[in-house]
Amino acid sequence: MQLLFLLMLNQNDIKQKLGIYAADFIKQDMLVGLGTGTTVYFLLKELGKRKHQGLNFTAVCTSSQTQNILVEKGINYVSINEVSSLQLTIDGADEADVNGNLIKGGGGALLQEKIVAAASKQLIIIVDEKKDVQTLGAFPLPVEVVTFGWKQVQQKIESNYNIKALLRKKDDSVFITDHKHYILDCLFNSIENPSQLNNELHLIPGVVETGLFINMATTIIIGFSNGDIKERKLTR
Ligand code: A5P
Repeated sequence: MQLLFLLMLNQNDIKQKLGIYAADFIKQDMLVGLGTGTTVYFLLKELGKRKHQGLNFTAVCTSSQTQNILVEKGINYVSINEVSSLQLTIDGADEADVNGNLIKGGGGALLQEKIVAAASKQLIIIVDEKKDVQTLGAFPLPVEVVTFGWKQVQQKIESNYNIKALLRKKDDSVFITDHKHYILDCLFNSIENPSQLNNELHLIPGVVETGLFINMATTIIIGFSNGDIKERKLTR
C-alpha cells in the first residue's frame, strides 16, 4: 500500500513527464507549432534544454505567453504568416474525448491555437488522464467573442441552449485575449454533438472562435498517475 502511494504521480509530475515525452517528436530542422498552458510549459522547458544541446528547430507560437517563454529559452520562432504549413504542433487541452475531439481555451489562447492547429499536418495533444473523457462539456466551453455586442452573444447562447455563459474574469477584471476579445465560458455540462454545436456557435454574429477542436488531433498522448503514458492515434 505504501509502495503504491509512493509510485503515484501528482498532476504536475504527469504534466512534466508528458512534456519530456512529447519533446521526442521534435526533430532536427523541423518547423513546429507550440501550444500554450501549464502542460506545454514542461515541453518548452525541455526543448530549451535540447536546444542548448544542439537541437535546431523553428517554432510558431500559439500565444504571447508561449512567445515569452521561447524568448527566455532562446528558441527561434517565426510568425505563422511566414510559413505555408507546419509539420506538427504539440499542444495541451482541457478535455479530449474518445474520438479525439477537444475542448481548448482554458488558458485563453484558443484562437491562435486553432489557426496553428489547422495549419499543421499533425496535431499532438498532451493531457493527463483526468482530461480524457467519454463526452465533452464538463469543462466550461470557452467561446471567444468581439467586445462589441458581447452581451448579445451571451444572451443568444444562454437562451438557445438554456445554459449559463459566463464572461471570463481574471483578478476581478474582464479577461482580454491576445487579440483583444472577450471569452464566454459556457456551462454545457455535456455536449452530445460537438461538431454541430461548433457550427451553430459560429453562426452567431460576434463569435470569433470556439474552443471545440473537431477532428483536428492526430494523436492524443495521455499521462497516468501510475507513470504510464499511452498514445491514441486518430485519423482526420
Ligand atoms: C490554452 O488556451 C489552452 O487551450 C490549453 O492548451 C489548455 O487549457 C490546457 O492547458 P493546461 O495544460 O494548462 O491544463
